[in-house]
Amino acid sequence: MTKYITTPIYYVNDIPHIGHAYTTILVDMFKKYQELKGNSCILLTGTDEHGQKIENSAKMKNKSPQEYADSISFKFRSLWDSFNISYDYFIRTTDSYHNIGVKKAFEVMFSNGDIYKDYYEGNYCVSCETFFTKRQLLDNLLCPDCGKETTALREESYFFRLSKYQDKLLEWYKQDVIFPLHKKNEVIRFVESGLSDLSITRSTFKWGIELPKSINDNKHIIYVWLDALLSYITPLGFGNNKENKMKLFDDATHFVGKDILRFHAVYWPAFLFSLNLPLPKKIYAHGWWLIDGAKMSKSVGNVVNPKEIADTYGLETMRYFLISEVSFGQDGDFSIKALTKRANSELSDKLGNLLNRLLGMSEKYFNFNIESSDFSLFENEIDNVNNIINSLDSYMENMMPNKYLEELWSIFDIANITITKHSPWEMIKNNKKDVSSLLVFIANILAKGALMVYPILPQSSIKIMESLGINESFYKDIIKESKMIKKFTLTKIPPLFPKLEVKEEQLNKTKEIKDKQVKEEVNLRQFDKLDIRIGKILSAKKVKDSTKLLVFSIDFGEFGVRQIVSGIANFYKESDLVGINVCAIINLKPSKIRGIISEGMLLTAEDSDGNLELLRLNIKHGSKVC
Ligand code: ME8
Ligand code: MG
Repeated sequence: MTKYITTPIYYVNDIPHIGHAYTTILVDMFKKYQELKGNSCILLTGTDEHGQKIENSAKMKNKSPQEYADSISFKFRSLWDSFNISYDYFIRTTDSYHNIGVKKAFEVMFSNGDIYKDYYEGNYCVSCETFFTKRQLLDNLLCPDCGKETTALREESYFFRLSKYQDKLLEWYKQDVIFPLHKKNEVIRFVESGLSDLSITRSTFKWGIELPKSINDNKHIIYVWLDALLSYITPLGFGNNKENKMKLFDDATHFVGKDILRFHAVYWPAFLFSLNLPLPKKIYAHGWWLIDGAKMSKSVGNVVNPKEIADTYGLETMRYFLISEVSFGQDGDFSIKALTKRANSELSDKLGNLLNRLLGMSEKYFNFNIESSDFSLFENEIDNVNNIINSLDSYMENMMPNKYLEELWSIFDIANITITKHSPWEMIKNNKKDVSSLLVFIANILAKGALMVYPILPQSSIKIMESLGINESFYKDIIKESKMIKKFTLTKIPPLFPKLEVKEEQLNKTKEIKDKQVKEEVNLRQFDKLDIRIGKILSAKKVKDSTKLLVFSIDFGEFGVRQIVSGIANFYKESDLVGINVCAIINLKPSKIRGIISEGMLLTAEDSDGNLELLRLNIKHGSKVC
């Protein structure tokens, strides 16, 4: 059966960043893996173009929403094209077939009795395009998902009877659909805590799909999330005049970021129940990419542009980094330092170097023609390699692609170690036959490796295969049936992964941009949450085995004496600090630094050379900074 897999359809309020690229590359990897195994797989991606957020962004750019959506949607599509993403459908929610399909879905849900009209009263987060009840808000105002300010709404609205599907949903979660497990449990807790009906229309702005004519109400447009989720089926012909491919939806897998799991694991299946359609077979929720531990944000200026990374460090290096650096479902930290480190130690030193060694020796000793049918010297190694290769499928099918790569890389280790163990440069002097066997054995490892790495490094995989004189038709013999190829005619190719250099300036780039810009706006309530107090330093001592850290005992008057760790040892003598009054945040969650509990954070100022100076004040300890 053909698998149908989807990325989220991305909002066109801004250009693509590394997070969008991550999801899309993951899905592309999954498709390429299925194809490698001989399964067919159809991939959908696209852009989410309606809603208040897009209308506002267009206004700011002085464009009509359609013009604006056209230009950004094109950017997404061109980016995926330049990354060779093998998508089969690219849906735009402003496509006319989608418009027809969404209206049809609304009509079906309405005629099933699942839609009724009432008043919506609550808050709305434009950034997340999500409704919240007062109870869900932070500080009665802020969005619990993104922290931005919400707007209070009271408007007439059509509602979907989500509450009606609570039990059916809970029953459905018993099948293992949502991965990872802890995310599934979060969803179950959310549903168990009680579902309210969902507002599915808006009437205070215009940029969206109108209600179907049969409802006869032109005051409303359809809520952007109902519109967007339906984009998984309208390209398959649901409710419109496109060719009917709805059969594909029988084996559907959605990949999403953890930020939008609720929409996919609660609202979407409920809509599908109402439409009497099959439910997705799997929903995979991945983690977030952070930059130096912080959320990416335009106002902080730390948004990573995937095109720039691919152009500077190579598309394949970027794919490899994104997939190997984190376990699926966990958050990851994106940094150029980590990317170049992995590229150099894993791509250049292990894989690239192995191919170079093979090509070099084969040329020197055998003029690129190697042949052997006796592998008795390497029996153990061959067993190990085959066991590893056989274990890979379960890692990929259980969505552990980083583990897949880690295991795969261990066969290159085996190859490198075997070469060192047999020292072919010595052996060649009196035993040409065994050197030939060794090289054929190494070529077999590279052949298996090249095939299995195809989903992650498609271009390099093809180059390695070409150099070895094989192609994907070898999958059956050397992967499925663990056979050995006995003869190779090799072709020399330029180094696959030349070493990358990180320039200091690139390393500091994100930090610099961050420091030069005013941070994201906060409101008084948010500022007021910090409890900053004056404390008198009672003692300061160096932290063992650290050149930077000092551990302080500080008296905050009526707020007690606290232990705080701070990285200022390079700038002060401990004895000079005793007795002075400093500022500290005292309601920061305690953390462990080098095994020492720190119950607050000292405030310092940092100049452009990285020098730190403590904020010192003469006011009585215990005083509050406000
Ligand atoms: O939510 N790290 O669109 P969106 C990893 N239109 N992935 C990230 C990320 C990050 N920092 N930031 C974004 C929408 N993503 C809706 C979806 S679907 C019917 C409608 C990825 O443009 C991740 O996959 O805000 C996340 O779920 C998606 O981009 C959100 O993209
Ligand atoms: Mg988003």
